[in-house]
Amino acid sequence: MASRREFLSAAIAVATAAALRPAFALTPPATGAIELRAIPSTGEKIPVIGMGTSGSFEVDVAGREPLKEVLRRFVAGGASVIDTSPNYSNAEDVLGDLLAELGLRDRIWLATKLAADDRAAGEAQFADSLRRLRTDRVELLAVHNLRDWRTQLALARELKAQGKVKYIGLTHFRDEAHDQLADIVAAEKPDFVQINYSVSAVNAEKRVLPVAADSGVAVMINRAFDDGRLFSRVAGQALPGWAAEVGISSWAQLFLRFATSHPAVTVVIPATGKPERQSDNLLAGSGPRLTEAQRAELVAMFR
Ligand SMILES: NC(=O)c1ccc[n+]([C@@H]2O[C@H](COP(=O)([O-])OP(=O)(O)OC[C@H]3O[C@@H](n4cnc5c(N)ncnc54)[C@H](OP(=O)(O)O)[C@@H]3O)[C@@H](O)[C@H]2O)c1
Repeated sequence: MASRREFLSAAIAVATAAALRPAFALTPPATGAIELRAIPSTGEKIPVIGMGTSGSFEVDVAGREPLKEVLRRFVAGGASVIDTSPNYSNAEDVLGDLLAELGLRDRIWLATKLAADDRAAGEAQFADSLRRLRTDRVELLAVHNLRDWRTQLALARELKAQGKVKYIGLTHFRDEAHDQLADIVAAEKPDFVQINYSVSAVNAEKRVLPVAADSGVAVMINRAFDDGRLFSRVAGQALPGWAAEVGISSWAQLFLRFATSHPAVTVVIPATGKPERQSDNLLAGSGPRLTEAQRAELVAMFR
């Protein structure tokens, strides 16, 4: 299991090697393969760009049509990780129906959550999630927002032992929960932690990300666009001059690459219901990590 120091020295070695290469070699091909990263607890590799379903998959029948293309492009682009939750209204139903209709379940690495208040409710909710997702297993089952976390994490561990779940985790989306989340991650060492992290919200760097790296816990990033708010902040603004040198041609790609450039991060899960935005987001998955100087410049821009 890699320690935080090993993570950081590997990242510095990559950055140094990139700095020593001639300038032309820094520009990756526009259609590079999406990067894979290892889940520390098993070594299984997953694509660094995944997708969320909050909002984007909470649609009526008419709203399902563009989502088919969103999913087709996702899989064609080499991605596989999809995050959902039983409390995103009908998102699990929509996702389950579309994966079945498109015959894509076996190409998807599926993550859902437990958002319940006692053991019986958690058991019933998970059974219902499998029915709604039209599957007999999920790759990741995470405790949503630390709700009833002791009981629900114990349930998730049992489901993992039964083979219904491959990995277990914990999630949150607010800075105020980071200290508690970091303490639980250090003590419980789940396979995954999911947390908010973006150019305008870097609190996770203080404890959650280092603790996850030290504990051998994979990190899934939510809200990399601050729920879409970052786009109004950059409307009409040109990208930094160095963006093209690292293969970045949109603000969405830059926000995602910022998140995936942190050495502790395994996968980021942007949500969109629009096919052309899905293609844009996937382009962030190939190319070099941003340097510490580039990351600091972005943080200063959005402070
Ligand atoms: N506690 C938790 O466990 C928790 C909490 C929050 C989020 N999550 C998970 O993390 C996922 C991501 O977080 P999020 O949905 O809150 O926010 P997000 O990914 O930061 O932002 C989503 C917003 O960005 C827009 N967008 C997406 N791609 C774009 C692009 N290329 N260009 C311009 N706009 C773009 C989307 O609009 P369009 O749809 O119109 O494109 C949507 O309004 C969620 O879907 C969910 O799966 C989990």
